[in-house]
Amino acid sequence: MIEKQFTTSYQVYDNLDEMEEADIQLMQKACEARKNAYAPYSRFMVGAAILMENGEVVTGSNQENAAYPSGLCAERNAIYQAGSLYPNQKIEAIAITVKSERKKVIVPAAPCGACRQAIAEYEIKQEHPIKIMFMAEIGKVIKVNALLDILPLAFDGSYL
Ligand code: THU
Repeated sequence: MIEKQFTTSYQVYDNLDEMEEADIQLMQKACEARKNAYAPYSRFMVGAAILMENGEVVTGSNQENAAYPSGLCAERNAIYQAGSLYPNQKIEAIAITVKSERKKVIVPAAPCGACRQAIAEYEIKQEHPIKIMFMAEIGKVIKVNALLDILPLAFDGSYL
């Protein structure tokens, strides 16, 4: 038996203003997208903005459904839209922001496991890391350099 370890480094910014201009702009697009969230059940709104290598930005928001599992997260709405619109363009970065109507969220909310899995598919396909940054409505921003940094031992097509 051998014991193995994962190590992940990530950056924590005190607020958005500390980030590079390109990251600030992408997060602002995510904040805009969050306004289009349809979240009458959870009252938890999420916006995502994806920067493509050609400079285009693709956005998405969470869209809920009375049959709860039929709804979809912001990140997956955005990434499938990016894959549909620009199948041959690499994805550079994703900015994610959340806001709740029920409580003040200030802790950055990381993308859920299903969204990480969806984003991982594209990162592996394009053989180029996708930067992920996420924050609440205000407050700290967390940035990771690659999706696989936050999805160790990921399942991928090589198993099939
Ligand atoms: N949600 C997202 O949009 N992204 C995530 O990564 C986690 C959760 C949405 C789904 C649902 O509409 C609401 O947030 C509450 O779970």
